[in-house]
Amino acid sequence: MTHSADDTAAASRGTALAGGVSSPVRSGAAVGGAPFVQVAGRGAYAYDRNGRAYVDYVMAYGPLLFGHAHPALVRGLDELAAHGTVFGSTCAAELRLAQRIAAHVPSMQALRFVSTGTEAMMSAVRVARAYTRRPLIVRFAGNYHGHFDAALEQAGASAPTQGDAGGGIPPSGRAEVVVARYNDLADLDAKVGGRGAQLAAIALEPMPANMGLVSPAPGFIDGVFARARAAGALVIFDEVITWLRVGLGGEQGRRGYSPDLTALGKIAGGGLPLAAFGGRADVMAVLAPGGFTFTGGTFSGNPLCVGLAHRVLDLLESDCRLYARLEARARELAAGIRAVFARRGMPYAVTQYASMVDFAFRPGAPARNDAERSQSNRAAFAAYYHAMRERGVLLAPSPNELMFLSSEHGDREIEFTLTALDATFEELQQRRLV
Ligand SMILES: Cc1ncc(COP(=O)(O)O)c(C=O)c1O
Repeated sequence: MTHSADDTAAASRGTALAGGVSSPVRSGAAVGGAPFVQVAGRGAYAYDRNGRAYVDYVMAYGPLLFGHAHPALVRGLDELAAHGTVFGSTCAAELRLAQRIAAHVPSMQALRFVSTGTEAMMSAVRVARAYTRRPLIVRFAGNYHGHFDAALEQAGASAPTQGDAGGGIPPSGRAEVVVARYNDLADLDAKVGGRGAQLAAIALEPMPANMGLVSPAPGFIDGVFARARAAGALVIFDEVITWLRVGLGGEQGRRGYSPDLTALGKIAGGGLPLAAFGGRADVMAVLAPGGFTFTGGTFSGNPLCVGLAHRVLDLLESDCRLYARLEARARELAAGIRAVFARRGMPYAVTQYASMVDFAFRPGAPARNDAERSQSNRAAFAAYYHAMRERGVLLAPSPNELMFLSSEHGDREIEFTLTALDATFEELQQRRLV
């Protein structure tokens, strides 16, 4: 753990910035040592204050499908801004953006813009409760939906998943939330018990990416729909990570699902904060002004973020081969890691979906839920994180996160990463950590 003295100094100076970070995962508490302090990002690379470049697999936790500062996204930003950055009135561009999104995600017959995934999911939950006039929400342990009260118990990502993560959340904030085990319909049934008539919605990540990458078991999501339908409840898909990561139609487009409500964000704003929630027109009709349910937002649908979102869609709609290229690259990386594991006799499974790649220091088959994921060797992960960083590869400093690739990760970066991995595992094996 011999990162630059500057980084250490920056971390210890973090007194005005609470805890030295604006979001806890960035502190690197899960891996120890000095947090990574970044001064710039270009393409697939993050730069520290010494100008050292790192192949970046954090990609801002998902938004940077085109890497950092992609010219087609950042060029002429000043021109866009010159027309105004926030209006406080509806802007024409947001009306068009809503139509473009709905064309790709037909289940979003009506949608509304917000700034973050947290707001999108919080609003979707409120809409579901308002529409059904029922209180109860079911979520799954290890899924992450943001940091609002109802979302944090046993949340994934880098929210603490064990014990009491609920400082500041009153008991009423959790009272109407049931947390079930992902990929386990029997547990879902048991947790809902006799409360089906109170159930407003079941919320889930359709391809969970916050407890590592977990594949839904065959029949699991169909089972979720069946139970929601039988109870007269709604299904909310959290596609904050997956929309535009797995395709223009999101995970629902890939798998042919039609959830009642969807939340999206991350990639949508092209690196600026833009998110949305939406779904069936009759459900979204509960929203004020026509309906009796309030959501708002000073910056919601502002022309700057909306302008970038149009650029993202322009890029994706004009390059129909992009997703295939991204996926091929991710497959190449996953295959390379598997080959290193095989050569070194390391019993870990590597998973890949679209442009996401993941493994955990946990022998055997890939985890099916957060309980299994949490069995991974945290000391090995911490050592791996730091050794990779020393070698110029930046990973998310948490064993619940995965590797996000961008259009800018090419052969050179994959090769560099695999060389660093091999040397890192050599070191970890010598230290008997893996
Ligand atoms: C699936 C999912 N939903 C919601 C959120 C919350 O989004 P935000 O951080 O923009 O509030 C995240 C953030 O990581 C996420 O991964």
